[in-house]
Amino acid sequence: LKRKKISVIGAGFTGATTAFLLAQKELGDVVLVDIPEAENPTKGKALDMWEAAPIQGYDSYVIGTSDYEKTANSDLVIITAGVARKPGMSRDDLVQINQNVVKSVTKEIMKYSKDPTIIVLTNPVDAMTYVAYKESGLPKNKVMGQSGILDTARFRAFIAEELNVSVNDVTGFVLGGHGDSMVPLTRYSYVGGIPVETLVPKERLEQIVQRTRVGGGEIVNLLGNGSAYYAPSAALVEMAEAIIKDQRRILPTVAYLEGEYGFQDIFLGVPTLLGANGVEKIYELELTEEEQAALKKSAESVINVMQALK
Ligand code: APR
Repeated sequence: LKRKKISVIGAGFTGATTAFLLAQKELGDVVLVDIPEAENPTKGKALDMWEAAPIQGYDSYVIGTSDYEKTANSDLVIITAGVARKPGMSRDDLVQINQNVVKSVTKEIMKYSKDPTIIVLTNPVDAMTYVAYKESGLPKNKVMGQSGILDTARFRAFIAEELNVSVNDVTGFVLGGHGDSMVPLTRYSYVGGIPVETLVPKERLEQIVQRTRVGGGEIVNLLGNGSAYYAPSAALVEMAEAIIKDQRRILPTVAYLEGEYGFQDIFLGVPTLLGANGVEKIYELELTEEEQAALKKSAESVINVMQALK
């Protein structure tokens, strides 16, 4: 069996961390790509990871480059290239800078790979995934974004801490756009099968939901320079693993909607089935009136950002 080839575009904090996790899990050989000005550091990071292989015992080969020819025939491409959010900057401020980055990266990728699956992380992720989808010309199941795994991971971490239980026993559920406009459905969140709403008082649960909503900003403020990358990388790798191993995981994904939840021609976070063919299914749930209204608001904020696209 031939090893899979995974290209990670953007060798910054998130891209490099993602590459290292992919190698550690032996999900494939990894090509780490950045701009020509960053070619040497990119090569250095990749070589450093390859030199960790004998210690950690993985055979995944890692290379760094600025030459897209080296990404040829990638099975999976993860796009983390772009500018990270600075304190005081909203995700939406980033839209035009990152649009140009994602567009050019996707164009380069598609020159050398015919049928890759693309996962986008670059923010604002809902709009950037749309940009990659349009530029790539790939079918909708092959292009997706990451946001819900990270949002629910934050929620799960906070709930586990609150109840002093294992993170493994806590599930979360979120719909809609990434971050501030996300729609958490606490009635679908469980702790060892017990509804979280019966374990955490309503007011406290609302505080935790609010902390989750602004979780990205909390990290931005603490770091002082840059945005979160450990948990975002872990989220990307969970999606990559589901696809590469055809695990058929049910995970929240930024997916292309064609009428689901009442939205058309937009990427939004929804529960999906992730397997070898990418987004193989979107699950549509019955929402309460309140939830539907929150989702509409979230979709509107994504549409607002998309209006900034040129
Ligand atoms: N092609 C390839 N790489 C690029 C390009 C490009 N056109 N433009 C920028 N990059 C690279 C930068 O050189 C840098 O190495 O993308 C990398 C981004 O890394 P960081 O600045 O460390 O940012 P990071 O924290 O990894 O976040 C990346 O993920 O979470 C989102 O909002 C965040 O959009 C941001 C992205």
